[in-house]
Amino acid sequence: MRIGIDFGTTHTVVALVDRGNYPVVSFEGGDFVPSLVAAHDSSGTLRWGWDAAAVRYEPGWTLLPSLKRLLNDAGPGTEVTVGSRRFAIGALLEGFFSALHRELVERSNAGIAANDSITAAVSVPANASTAQRFLTLEAFKAGGFTVEALLNEPSAAGFEYAHRNRRDGRREHLVVYDLGGGTFDASLLRMTGKTNEVLATNGVRRLGGDDFDEAILALVLEKAGARDSDAAARALVLEECVRVKEALSPNSRRFMVDLAALDREPLVLPVEDVHEACARLIARTLEAVEELVDEAEGVTWADVASLYVVGGGGLFPLVPRLLKERFGDKRVRRSPHPFAATAMGLAVWLDREGGYGLEERLSRHFGVFREGGAGQDVVFDTIFEKGTPVPAPGAPPVVVTRRYRAAHDVGHFRFLECSRLKDTRPDGDVTPWDEAFFPFEPGLRAADLSSARIQRREGGPEIAETYALGSEGAVTVTVTDATDGFARTFRLTR
Ligand SMILES: Nc1ncnc2c1ncn2[C@@H]1O[C@H](COP(=O)(O)OP(=O)(O)OP(=O)(O)O)[C@@H](O)[C@H]1O
Ligand SMILES: [Mg+2]
Repeated sequence: MRIGIDFGTTHTVVALVDRGNYPVVSFEGGDFVPSLVAAHDSSGTLRWGWDAAAVRYEPGWTLLPSLKRLLNDAGPGTEVTVGSRRFAIGALLEGFFSALHRELVERSNAGIAANDSITAAVSVPANASTAQRFLTLEAFKAGGFTVEALLNEPSAAGFEYAHRNRRDGRREHLVVYDLGGGTFDASLLRMTGKTNEVLATNGVRRLGGDDFDEAILALVLEKAGARDSDAAARALVLEECVRVKEALSPNSRRFMVDLAALDREPLVLPVEDVHEACARLIARTLEAVEELVDEAEGVTWADVASLYVVGGGGLFPLVPRLLKERFGDKRVRRSPHPFAATAMGLAVWLDREGGYGLEERLSRHFGVFREGGAGQDVVFDTIFEKGTPVPAPGAPPVVVTRRYRAAHDVGHFRFLECSRLKDTRPDGDVTPWDEAFFPFEPGLRAADLSSARIQRREGGPEIAETYALGSEGAVTVTVTDATDGFARTFRLTR
């Protein structure tokens, strides 16, 4: 069985490859699995997905929503507190994907038997760091899936568009606008025949429907004079705000919130107040889209026929309204499957019969800090620039090697990823990896180098640093002592 899986901040959606169709899988509670974890405070028992949703109001259980959001800054050693306990983030993720596997086999209409092997194409936000990409991949594998490819979410959604709308090989430029529960991503694609080429990507890692909810909650608590409510009451009011937000239509005039959780009368706000609370969040997405097209070489707005809106956040009525005001009525098109476009696009891509191809680019810069002249100021050395073509799934990595003679006893590497460079300095969304150390002195190979006082040494060994950019859009670093081939690989660090 071949499937596309979109692990979202709120919803995890699965689509099948089924003889030229890409149906979305239904589970017992809906066409998705909630991306939730629940932990029992005293026993530490964990539940995931629909089972976690089922215990959300039961005493003794603590819910961890938006699990994926934690991956923004996570590394392999990251721990998360749920209720009274701490868990390794990798273990929570693995548990989630194992549970998803069980749901698919036991409680869905996918028609997968327990011993069927499942090959999946999976996705991450376009802006995801190397650590997020590897953590997600490892967890899918541990959950029992064979992962054939990891695509960026808006690139995947571009295939759903292509499958639905493209009837001839004509060249076409498309902006995918993906506003989900936790992330905003925009990509500019050039579609020629069945090949989608990613020209540029821009996004905001921490911006999604969750932030709209928080902004509305703050407004409601303020208007109700209840800003000092306790956490339990806030959580209930937040849920109510989400419910009312999701029920808004373009014709809604009022925003009515039940405040029984605070022992108060319902609060009625003019919808304009709610719009005002969310407008600045939407404005950031419009800026990101402007920048995306402005910075793309050789493409102007005149070339961009459509702006394709996917993701549940795009259902908030003010979003299409402001998009149309800024980019034109005709250009803005909404996917008929806002929640499933990414999963369906993954399935379209995975379908060998479909013949679709992808030319993806690195969405962030990758580089390393090095000592400058005479061991003085530190300079940032870019290894892979944002926009570097990423190899297709299954193709070999792009490799860059640097060689030099070691001038110290220990190599201390500070690798880093960022969304922008400003005067050659990292800027924008910056993700430093954990610090990495390499013994240039053979006698130090068994030592813990993290607290070593690094000394200058003349005539050290010849060192090779090899950087490999894989099809997942992630980087692996290997440092080798050329004298005898002793090497260390830095991979799951962040
Ligand atoms: N009718 C609606 N109006 C406004 N917002 C909505 C509506 N329906 C859903 N949403 C919001 O959409 C968000 C979920 O969208 P979606 O399922 O696309 O996100 P996700 O894929 O889980 O997250 P991400 O892609 O950011 O990881 C939630 O914040 C939800 O409140
Ligand atoms: Mg999504």
